[in-house]
Amino acid sequence: MSKAPKLRTPFYNPDLSYDQNYDQGPFGDFASEEIWQPKQPPRFQFLGQPLDFPFGIPAGPLLNRKFTHAAFRLGFPVATYKTVRRHAHPSHPYPNVMAVKLDGDLTIEKAQQPLIADTTYEQPLSITNSFGVPSQAPDVWQADLNLAVQDARPGQLLIGSFQGTSKGEGVEAFVEDCVETAVLVAQTGAKVLEMNLSCPNEGTSNLLCFDIDRVEQVVKAVKAKVHQPLVLKIAYFVDQAQLVEFVTRVGALVEGLSAINTIPATVVDRTGQQALPGKGRAVSGVCGHAIKWAGLEMVQRLRELRAQHNLQFAIVGVGGVTTVADYQEYRQVGADLVMSATGAIWNPYLAQEIVSTEGVV
Ligand SMILES: Cc1cc2nc3c(=O)[nH]c(=O)nc-3n(C[C@H](O)[C@H](O)[C@H](O)COP(=O)(O)O)c2cc1C
Repeated sequence: MSKAPKLRTPFYNPDLSYDQNYDQGPFGDFASEEIWQPKQPPRFQFLGQPLDFPFGIPAGPLLNRKFTHAAFRLGFPVATYKTVRRHAHPSHPYPNVMAVKLDGDLTIEKAQQPLIADTTYEQPLSITNSFGVPSQAPDVWQADLNLAVQDARPGQLLIGSFQGTSKGEGVEAFVEDCVETAVLVAQTGAKVLEMNLSCPNEGTSNLLCFDIDRVEQVVKAVKAKVHQPLVLKIAYFVDQAQLVEFVTRVGALVEGLSAINTIPATVVDRTGQQALPGKGRAVSGVCGHAIKWAGLEMVQRLRELRAQHNLQFAIVGVGGVTTVADYQEYRQVGADLVMSATGAIWNPYLAQEIVSTEGVV
């Protein structure tokens, strides 16, 4: 195990609201003017796009072009613009990010018990995030995303993330919302799109990625309208039979699968009260160091299934990457691209550290 790096000033400030971060961020060294230049031309590829090396920041922490621009300046080859919706959608109230106190891995069993959260951020860092996937209106985010796409120099890639909004208006309306949102993202010129399936499904309380009939329907409808490579962002699957079904039914329809999003758990403060105030926020997603095991395991399972079923999709490994060694571990188990959210927020130099290591893999 490599030594846990010291935590730097986070580029997303958990002491401020989402709107304050959107307007005033990014912070710390993401706010500097520093421009890091690669020492050699791009040596890797991801879905046909040249990459300096297969590493980046997944959907979430990069709230707008100011954030994606900073990520590119500091040498992250891939920057994902935070998930957008078809209509403006407010964020859950502050706080949206808190540190989660965990000893070791957040296993699925441990995630059934309440976890304690506070505002002291320490290594090994795990956090909970609860935003409700806020979005600007498309006229705002399309213009901003278009500029963000153009900021990528050769060897860098901007991914446009989106999701459908479940409004209780029926399945057809939900599918149409997914398709229309995908089209709006495609119009910005983003070369790769990612659809977040770890989001509420229409008409059920379960996540969309666990309703494979619905996923197949949505993906086919999106692919009929959008021609850019499409990556699906999925949660941790406990049930291997369900993952086999997902991969065999959807794996040939898309260009990539990204795993994982967060692991949900009940989060309380030290007095046992709900830590994040408001209805529907007793349970929130946990990410960072304690979920690395789950991301690594999903990458391994996806790689085996891809080989067994002769499929071609690329695998994006996400979850708990905070060190160069974590990146290498994901590459060794088969990730074609590795992403870090929590780790990158608290270490703006993570990409530079990875590429300066002898023999970046
Ligand atoms: C502040 C924050 C916001 C996030 N928002 C989104 C989002 O809008 N869409 C999405 O697909 N995932 C979102 N995620 C999940 C991350 O993309 C990633 O899957 C998860 O955090 C696990 O990676 P990590 O352990 O490196 O943080 C968010 C994560 C964080 C930390």
